[in-house]
Amino acid sequence: MAALPQGFLSRPARIEDVPAVAALEAEVFTDPWPAHLYVQEVGQPLRFQIVVDTDNGFLAGYLFACWQLDELHILKVATHPLHQGRGIATTMLAEARSEAEKASARAVVLEVRPSNRGAFRLYRRLGYNVIARRPRYYADGEDALLMYLPLAHPPGA
Ligand SMILES: CC(C)(COP(=O)(O)OP(=O)(O)OC[C@H]1O[C@@H](n2cnc3c(N)ncnc32)[C@H](O)[C@@H]1OP(=O)(O)O)[C@@H](O)C(=O)NCCC(=O)NCCS
Repeated sequence: MAALPQGFLSRPARIEDVPAVAALEAEVFTDPWPAHLYVQEVGQPLRFQIVVDTDNGFLAGYLFACWQLDELHILKVATHPLHQGRGIATTMLAEARSEAEKASARAVVLEVRPSNRGAFRLYRRLGYNVIARRPRYYADGEDALLMYLPLAHPPGA
């Protein structure tokens, strides 16, 4: 599995992380989730939620996902601008994939804006394929591309 760069550690998200997650969210997304949505998400069943910390305790990234039947749906993934391009999102997505494989999931699924070329390229590199386009999915009217990473299962599994 991809590894985090030295000095970064991933761990399950906790309620105390919400202010930092919401602050980073507001910095990197044009349509950020408000903090109360993260408060609702943390601690819900059927979730996979991780944060990446720097070794001096600052939030470097987060990934929030939920189970929808036998698919793990990535709701949010972000890396702090100071730490982008070093493999942090790649590693968080690899951890999500590994969690999905452990649960014998059918796939990992996510939506991305067609204009988000960097994220799109990252997902393609990790094996995600576009399987649908959701018209006017985002509040500003942009479509979403639905991307799907099928997971292989051993015969008979
Ligand atoms: C999209 C996003 C999550 C990517 O996070 P990231 O941690 O920078 O991603 P990675 O570092 O794993 O990969 C990004 C690029 O860095 C490259 N990279 C990975 N490890 C690297 C390393 N050690 N050294 C140099 N480059 C590296 C990757 O090859 C990748 O290149 P690519 O753009 O050609 O695919 C981040 O840009 C972000 O938070 N954007 C704002 C929020 C957002 O758009 N989220 C996704 C919504 S769908």
